[in-house]
Amino acid sequence: MGTCMFAHRGLSAQYPENTLAAFQAAADAGADGIELDVQLSKDLQAVVIHDHSLERTTTGTGFVKEYELQQLKEFDAGSWFAPPFANETIPALADVLTWAKGNQLLLNIELKGQVWERSQLKEAVLPLVFEHELQERVIFSSFDHRLIYEIQKQEPQLETAILVAAALHEPERYLRDIGVRGYHFRVPFLLQEEAVRLQQHGVQLRPYTVNDPYWVEMFVKWGCAGLFTDDPVMALQLRKKYEG
Ligand code: G3P
Ligand code: MG
Repeated sequence: MGTCMFAHRGLSAQYPENTLAAFQAAADAGADGIELDVQLSKDLQAVVIHDHSLERTTTGTGFVKEYELQQLKEFDAGSWFAPPFANETIPALADVLTWAKGNQLLLNIELKGQVWERSQLKEAVLPLVFEHELQERVIFSSFDHRLIYEIQKQEPQLETAILVAAALHEPERYLRDIGVRGYHFRVPFLLQEEAVRLQQHGVQLRPYTVNDPYWVEMFVKWGCAGLFTDDPVMALQLRKKYEG
């Protein structure tokens, strides 16, 4: 397949991010996978939203963790983007997993909890993925590398990745220490020579967030396992061009 194209927060270039509309649009566009951000509600349910506060992408105010799941679902999570999306709501992770049973997309679940609630987040997310029998299609990632380490230790068969927004000193050694295979790095914090070396060590590279066609082509040429983009239509076209 080459580089897997993940729709970042769904097809977020044209739909309100992290909504079922954005995820369905990604599926319709032929994306290989979707990326979604997950955090905890007040009643410890896994909900799909990027920011810890509600203002930017919903009609709610305050913090996600101040509301129970059913209260969060009452907010409009679409009209900030465009009025026709006023019926979109904050999905529970369970809603997205149920929806994903109807397709073959890869799922990158980015765990966005606070470090002091990492056990609750792990307990809210992992059993749900197993209940839906989707564990073979999921990559778990986080900026909380301790959380990823604990997931990997508990369930070594799961696919995991660390998110990194800096150039690490010796990434291959760091990944080996944590026991993680996926390196989700922020553009442009990796040199090609480092990419080659990491891939020789079996590391799966997936840069984010790649919206510039120049970078998409470059990462396809590098042979990255995947990349995250708000515009999977553009990325898929470039991959096709490169693969001929
Ligand atoms: O998972 C890749 C990317 O989503 C990480 O950054 O802030 O867009 O969640 P952010
Ligand atoms: Mg994310």
